[in-house]
Amino acid sequence: MALHLGDTAPDFTADTTAGPISFHEWAGDSWVVLFSHPADFTPVCTTELSRVAQLQSEWDARGVKPIAVSVDSAEDHASWRPQIEAFGQTTVGFPIIADQDKAVAELYDMIHPGEGDTSSVRSVFVIDPAKKVRLSITYPKSVGRNFEEILRAVDALQTTDRASVSTPVDWRVGEKIIVPPTLSTEDARERFDDVEEHFPYLRTANIRAGV
Ligand code: BEZ
Repeated sequence: MALHLGDTAPDFTADTTAGPISFHEWAGDSWVVLFSHPADFTPVCTTELSRVAQLQSEWDARGVKPIAVSVDSAEDHASWRPQIEAFGQTTVGFPIIADQDKAVAELYDMIHPGEGDTSSVRSVFVIDPAKKVRLSITYPKSVGRNFEEILRAVDALQTTDRASVSTPVDWRVGEKIIVPPTLSTEDARERFDDVEEHFPYLRTANIRAGV
């Protein structure tokens, strides 16, 4: 069954390149980006895992643990890793789940028959510290993802949680947020800086430092 936003991310135990894990325990109090790829030793996947590795300091800055998954073995993942690292001139600091029995792929609905039913598509789940699924996207096997967009979305999720606001299209940290519709413009001016009323239903503002 498909997972919906707000659902608890299913727990599982699995072998990984960092040894066996129990997923919820491994996640601890961190945010998690769980992302699947179709197969080891394939071109698009190699570029993707390299990029995730290159972005390690960005994940760390946001308290995010990335973890990859495919239906290949831990031995295959381990043999592939030097090529991922060589391609991206980087070090892979995150675990890769060995999901040979497809248990994780099935729990997270990562196998899509229209894309071939033997391996996972390019799914991404952003999971918060309460283990709730907060965002999911699915790309076909032929299209590499943009992990900077995942970072941007994590920034937006963390900001909307912290400040009880929404974020507009293409929002990035430091840009104006959207004032909640439940707040009067007068109250918004008390709480935010530079409130602009574009339409009665669309007001933007800056979050104050420290909020
Ligand atoms: C790739 O990573 O290039 C790939 C893997 C499986 C199917 C299609 C593309």
